[in-house]
Amino acid sequence: MKDKVAVITGAGSGIGRALALELARRGARLALSDVNDAGLAETADQVKALGAEVHTAHLDVTDRAAVEAYASTVAAHYGVVHQVYNNAGISGGGRTILDSDWAAIDQTLAVNLFGVIHGTKAFLPHLIASGDGHVVNISSLNGIMAQPTLGAYCASKFGVRGFTEVLRTEMINGGHPVKVTVVHPGGVKTDIASATLRMAQTEGYEVSATEKNRMRVYNEKLLKMPADQAARIIADGVQKGAPRVRVGNDAKMADRLVRFLPRYYPKFVVNLERRLFGKA
Ligand SMILES: NC(=O)c1ccc[n+]([C@@H]2O[C@H](COP(=O)([O-])OP(=O)(O)OC[C@H]3O[C@@H](n4cnc5c(N)ncnc54)[C@H](O)[C@@H]3O)[C@@H](O)[C@H]2O)c1
Repeated sequence: MKDKVAVITGAGSGIGRALALELARRGARLALSDVNDAGLAETADQVKALGAEVHTAHLDVTDRAAVEAYASTVAAHYGVVHQVYNNAGISGGGRTILDSDWAAIDQTLAVNLFGVIHGTKAFLPHLIASGDGHVVNISSLNGIMAQPTLGAYCASKFGVRGFTEVLRTEMINGGHPVKVTVVHPGGVKTDIASATLRMAQTEGYEVSATEKNRMRVYNEKLLKMPADQAARIIADGVQKGAPRVRVGNDAKMADRLVRFLPRYYPKFVVNLERRLFGKA
């Protein structure tokens, strides 16, 4: 990691911030961005306190032209780009497919799937030119396992996994010097569940008691691993060149469940959901 130039989107909170700090400790030079300017400034202060070099920018990953311009800006600023962590994401709400608003579906795919595609495509020529590139795309446990009320989220995260695995085949096939890692975190203690409710309230959606209950259960029972531990696991995986990093025992269990019981796991998931959240 020493002196590598690493780009992290969604670096103003949670896993993105923890990754910035972890890579700073390992000697990387950083390009950090987010739509949350206050959160991003806090991350930048913490990273600078560790002595790392940092470039910050307001960047909405759904804005294709802005991401393309940003890639050129970072490449011009540092002269080289080695790693991109496409991390920015939202959970997209806790409604069933039947009850979901189109706006929430569009936004979830725009941030989680197109955000990753934009970041990958915009930076790829620079990563190839570096001679030692690495694309790290953050999927989820829900890029492996489906769960009720996460239709758009699962679509985006399964999509990230497929897109990233295609990229890996292309880098191998083309003999390009770019490693490719897809990350599947399980529950990590971050703002992600609460952010969804805040966003819904800001946009004037009525948040139901069921949705509030889901957020509470997520925060109290499911989002457990500290973000700095998740960041260490991800950074270790990247340093080893791992094609796939599962973060946490929950992600590993979900992976095994789906692999060994592909037809029956949905029933198991529904039973677990009923125990956690009550009957739908
Ligand atoms: N926390 C978990 O349990 C968990 C589990 C699996 C996967 N993930 C994934 O990890 C990634 C990071 O999530 P987190 O848990 O740290 O959440 P978080 O809410 O703490 O951080 C997400 C960051 O992304 C930023 N963001 C949102 N929309 C954006 C946009 N359009 N453009 C740029 N930035 C934007 C937010 O401002 C925020 O700073 C996400 O992709 C998420 O889906 C998280």
